[in-house]
Amino acid sequence: MDTFDLKIGYLTPKNPIALAPMAGITDSKFAAQFTDHVGMVILGGYNLDERTNEAAVLEVQRGRSEFISDSPLEFLESELQAITSEDTGTAVMVNVRAVDIEAYADAARLAKKYGAGIEINAHCRQSEMIELGAGQSLLEHLDTLQEIIETVRSTGAVVSVKTRANVVDDIDVAQVIEKAGAHIIHIDAMGGHGADINIIRKIRNHTSLFIIGNNSVVDFSSAKSLFQRGADMVSVARAVLNEPNTLRFLVDQITSYQLTTGWYNSPKHICGGGDLRALAFCCLPVKPCAVHSALKMIGMTAEEFAQLKLKFVEGTPLEYGDSTCFGSMTWCCKITKPCFLRDGVLEVVGLSDIDFMQIKKHMSEEILSHRKK
Ligand SMILES: Cc1cc2nc3c(=O)[nH]c(=O)nc-3n(C[C@H](O)[C@H](O)[C@H](O)COP(=O)(O)O)c2cc1C
Ligand code: SF4
Ligand code: SF4
Repeated sequence: MDTFDLKIGYLTPKNPIALAPMAGITDSKFAAQFTDHVGMVILGGYNLDERTNEAAVLEVQRGRSEFISDSPLEFLESELQAITSEDTGTAVMVNVRAVDIEAYADAARLAKKYGAGIEINAHCRQSEMIELGAGQSLLEHLDTLQEIIETVRSTGAVVSVKTRANVVDDIDVAQVIEKAGAHIIHIDAMGGHGADINIIRKIRNHTSLFIIGNNSVVDFSSAKSLFQRGADMVSVARAVLNEPNTLRFLVDQITSYQLTTGWYNSPKHICGGGDLRALAFCCLPVKPCAVHSALKMIGMTAEEFAQLKLKFVEGTPLEYGDSTCFGSMTWCCKITKPCFLRDGVLEVVGLSDIDFMQIKKHMSEEILSHRKK
């Protein structure tokens, strides 16, 4: 069985760790170092038309690295051919910038032809790109971003949008991206100091997009804090330059976490800063605590919530647990929270930690499928 069971359109990354794009660095040759272990490589950013290539030339003149080409589509095709030549189970995406909307569509068709996805760069903040209306400037022009996404989606390609947090309202951006039909939001959660992890939680709570969380991931602890707020995948850029084995360590650790807990991106409890999926770990809502504001967010009363959870566990081993805090494991905490009461019941009913967490995962999906807002 596939350990992570990840599917994004026609992409099936083998695990939730990705190489993030770095212009002038992450081409097919660079990425090939990682395809034996990572779940996704995001190549680029490639400049798709004359104007973005001219802007890139100016950037190079002041010392930045860029991929520049007189024949952007031929160059892109040669890159796609080079990386998909071996069947590694690593999903490939190409991060691109353009002024001309049709250039995005042409690149998307090419990406699809090679089984790759396309990532619209709404992230680059180099002044030369912003002046052209490309990169981060798309965050200020959501109607244009929406048009690009819709055009690119019409090619049938898997579409990601790379954004930078805290530039405009991130929830508005994410909702436009979702409504326009993109599959993925790849968010650089740039905050004042390191990653602004709450941005990931907000996007998780407001959309169903596949989230690639990014920024300042250097080890398992920093990756986990994005997973616990709802990231489906985590990407790494700069740390790979400092320590090329970073991605391999992350793959090993998240795989081991998945194999021992059954839910690699399980949320923290709501009162610990987790996203709404954590309602599956909430207590019977009888005392004043953060569960009530979470329920308000989804338009559900405490009574409806209690009934929904109780109905969900009927016929499952979570019905048991007289000796637990609220009389059944319906209300029990996450498996990583040590509790001898819950663990005793798990042993008696013969339920593994992994199966307990799998049932909680399905419970969270059930709860959120009943959200009224
Ligand atoms: C040298 C360099 C070039 C980058 N080029 C791109 C790019 O072309 N497209 C893009 O979406 N992000 C680009 N980024 C941003 C990274 O993908 C990533 O979002 C950012 O570095 C934060 O992640 P990190 O903390 O893992 O480095 C670049 C970053 C660096 C350091
Ligand atoms: S119900 Fe329990 S787990 Fe949920 S927020 Fe309240 S105290 Fe935390
Ligand atoms: S019995 Fe343990 S796991 Fe269950 S709700 Fe109480 S503290 Fe949490």
